[in-house]
Amino acid sequence: MERIRTQVGIVGAGPAGLLLGHLLHLQGIESVEIENRSREYCESRIRAGVLEHGTAETLAQSGVGERMKREGLVHHGIYLRFRRRSHHIHFPELTGGKSIMVYGQHEVVKDLIAARLSAGARIFFDVEETSVGGLENATPWIRFRAGGRDQEIVCDFIAGCDGFHGMCRPAIPPQALRAHEHVFPFAWLGILASVEPSSDELIYARHERGFALLSMRSPQVSRLYLQCAPDEELEAWSDARIWAELQARFANDEGWTLREGPITQKGVTAMRAFLTEPMQYRRLFLLGDAAHIVPPTGAKGLNLAVADVRVFARALDAFYKHGRTDLLERYSETCLRRVWKAERFSNWMTTMLHLGNGSEFIESLHMAELDYVTSSRAAMTTLAENYVGLPYEDE
Ligand code: FAD
Ligand code: DHB
Repeated sequence: MERIRTQVGIVGAGPAGLLLGHLLHLQGIESVEIENRSREYCESRIRAGVLEHGTAETLAQSGVGERMKREGLVHHGIYLRFRRRSHHIHFPELTGGKSIMVYGQHEVVKDLIAARLSAGARIFFDVEETSVGGLENATPWIRFRAGGRDQEIVCDFIAGCDGFHGMCRPAIPPQALRAHEHVFPFAWLGILASVEPSSDELIYARHERGFALLSMRSPQVSRLYLQCAPDEELEAWSDARIWAELQARFANDEGWTLREGPITQKGVTAMRAFLTEPMQYRRLFLLGDAAHIVPPTGAKGLNLAVADVRVFARALDAFYKHGRTDLLERYSETCLRRVWKAERFSNWMTTMLHLGNGSEFIESLHMAELDYVTSSRAAMTTLAENYVGLPYEDE
C-alpha cells in the first residue's frame, strides 16, 4: 500500500471539498483530496445556481471569482407570483445593498478544480473502495484504490465533504450523532432548456396546480422546476407536457409570457431536511451536504457548504499557526447556528410556496403568509436578508 502523509485529508471534490482545499492552500496548510467520480462528471453535474452575497465574495476574495464576475448574473431581487400576479422583493433596498449571483455550481466547481490543479494540488479522481479510520488516534487515515493501487492518506484531520450519500458520516459511531430528518410529501421535476430566460430575475410561483420556479444558468439557458410527486415517473413527462404544466402554473394577468425551447436535461429531486448534531467526531469533521440537507426552495445548500468551509478553514488556521484548539472545538456549534437558521428559512419558503402541506385551513394560512410577505416591509426584509445570506459569525 502506498502511503501519503498530509495535514488534512479531504473526502469529496464537490464545492465543499474543493473550496476547503483552496482556502487551506492560501493559509499554507497542506491537503490531499479524493473523489469517487471523474473530473468531467464533477464539472458537468447540474445542481445549484444561486450564490449568496457572501458566497460570491468568498470566491472573489480567495481569487477564484474572475470568471464568475464576468459570466455570472447579478440579481437584485426575486418575484413571488400567486393569484396570477407578481410581487417583486428588492434585495439591495432591504439589506443595505446586498444582491445574489446566479452562477452554476458546476462552473464554481470548474473554477475551483482549475485553481487547485494549477497550484499543484493532489486530487485523486475516480477512486474506489474508500474508507476512513483511526479516528480515535492522532493520525486518522483514508484508504482507497486509485489506478489499480491501494493507497492510504495519513493525516491530522479528515474533512468529510462527501455529500449526503457519502461514507464519512456513516463511519461515525451512531451513538455519537443525533440526526434530525423531515421528508416532504413532494419533489421537484427540474429541467434545463436551451432558451433565453423569460424573466430578468427568478420567479417563485404558487398555483393551485402546484409550485413552479423559473431560474437560469446563462442568457441562453433556462432552468425550471415543477412541484411533483416524490415517486414521479420521468417517462410520464414528455417535453410537451412539461411546457404545458409550466405554462399553467406561471399563468398571469400581466401580459408576461413563458418562452419555450428544447429541453436538454430532466430530473426529479427529492425534498428533505436533514442535519446531524454535532458535525464532528474526534478528528473527523463533516462539511456541507455530508452534515445537512435543506429543501431546495430558497437555494441554501451550496451556500451552507461554503459557510462550513469558512469556519473550518479558520479553525485550522488558528490550530496550525497558534496551537489553538478552541475554534475546532466550537466548529459544530458555530456551524449549526447558521444551519438551523437556513433550515428554518428553507422550510418556511417551501411550505409557503408548495401545495399539499395540510388542510384547507393550513393552505389558506400559506396564502395569507404570501399576502403578508409581499405587503409588509418588515416581512419582505425577513425574506430578503435570509435569501442574500445572513452575516457570517467571523465577519
Ligand atoms: P456534493 O456537491 O454532494 O459533493 C460531494 C462529493 O463527494 C461529490 O463529488 C461526490 O461524488 C463525492 N463523494 C461521495 N462519496 C464519496 C466517497 N466515498 N469517496 C470519495 N468521494 C465521494 N444549493 C444552493 O445553495 N442553491 C441552489 O440553487 C441549489 N439548487 C439545487 C438544485 C438541485 C437540483 C440539487 C440536487 C441541489 C441544489 N442545491 C442548491 C444544493 C447543493 O447542490 C448542495 O448543497 C451542494 O452540492 C453541497 O456541496 P457539497 O460539496 O457539500 O456536496
Ligand atoms: C435554483 C434552485 C433553487 O433551489 C432555488 O431556490 C433557486 C434557483 C436553481 O437551480 O437555479
